[in-house]
Amino acid sequence: MSETMNKQIRLASRPSGWVTEENFTVTEEALPDPGDGQLLVRNIFMSVDPYMRGRMNDTKSYVPPFQIGEVLQAGIVGQVVSSNNADFAESDYVVGMLGWENYSISDGAQLRKIETGAIPLSYHLGILGMPGMTAYVGLHTIAQAQAEDSVFVSAASGAVGSVVGQLAKIHGCRVAGCAGSDDKVALLTDELGFDAAFNYRNSKSLPGSFAEVCPDGIDVNFENVGGEIFEAALWSMRDFGRVALCGMISNYNDEQLQPGPRGMMVIIGRRLRIQGFIVTDHPEACQEYAVKAAGWLAEGKLQYRETIAEGIENAPGAFINMLKGGNTGKQIVQLAAA
Ligand SMILES: NC(=O)c1ccc[n+]([C@@H]2O[C@H](COP(=O)([O-])OP(=O)(O)OC[C@H]3O[C@@H](n4cnc5c(N)ncnc54)[C@H](OP(=O)(O)O)[C@@H]3O)[C@@H](O)[C@H]2O)c1
Repeated sequence: MSETMNKQIRLASRPSGWVTEENFTVTEEALPDPGDGQLLVRNIFMSVDPYMRGRMNDTKSYVPPFQIGEVLQAGIVGQVVSSNNADFAESDYVVGMLGWENYSISDGAQLRKIETGAIPLSYHLGILGMPGMTAYVGLHTIAQAQAEDSVFVSAASGAVGSVVGQLAKIHGCRVAGCAGSDDKVALLTDELGFDAAFNYRNSKSLPGSFAEVCPDGIDVNFENVGGEIFEAALWSMRDFGRVALCGMISNYNDEQLQPGPRGMMVIIGRRLRIQGFIVTDHPEACQEYAVKAAGWLAEGKLQYRETIAEGIENAPGAFINMLKGGNTGKQIVQLAAA
């Protein structure tokens, strides 16, 4: 790409069922100049996240839907190329919501400056960013995990799940999880400190697999997946257990709404508390986490994995890959040299 042109990914059509590459279109337009109060950012790393699938639908939610023909939005780490905004100077590194594109114009309102140093820039989209904060908020603010609790997390090797498990271990909990391949399960138990894990794709009986990895039941279920995994987790809960309902990725590409977990009377009998949450409702906990996580990373108490695709034209493929489980840790797209 010449530096006078900007390549962008726009929503071509709304998916019906599984999202495909045909739902996206690549466009190129002249690089804009920043106006008064604006800055031009060279985008370096871009995050693709499960919630984006929901924004592709024309439904009312906690974030507005993407519009057909518009450049999609994402968490971006970039560098300021030129600035007419007093809060940002040329060469500053920034993180915030920008476009699926090589360069973005911003008024700075959704950006904050980040330090460069020992921590890789892309970590601000993962373990030090929204996914890590989600893990902390769900585990502590929502589920109020206590030391020695038995914690279970689904999609455990992903951006959020891998942090949930490690935070729970730091807190003194017993941790189990499930993931979609034997390699991911080995990562959880051999490198990330999980006490037990299983590959749900190989499971002959989900209740049986839960009984194996959580023989004494679950106090805190950090739910990322929904569907049958959620149902089996509910039936493995101990009395007064707490469920942090974080995501239901197994349903995001469904054409029809699925019936809920069977046997919901278990919620009554075991006096369970189930609470959905959105991380952005908890800015104070997020800030608290950012400080703690930087320390834990520096001390080697938190491990982190990324799967990195290259180039803006590969962003739709990376997004779909992540929804299908092709990622280990945080799925990132690198758009330019750091
Ligand atoms: N509430 C909030 O504020 C908030 C914020 C961020 C994220 N979330 C939610 O947290 C969850 C994890 O997000 P993330 O960013 O960390 O993504 P991620 O876990 O890094 O990537 C998604 C993973 O989901 C798993 N998955 C996909 N389809 C599945 C299925 N049918 N059954 C079981 N597992 C499936 C895949 O791993 P496997 O190989 O293991 O299948 C895939 O790698 C998502 O549900 C997301 O929507 C919520």
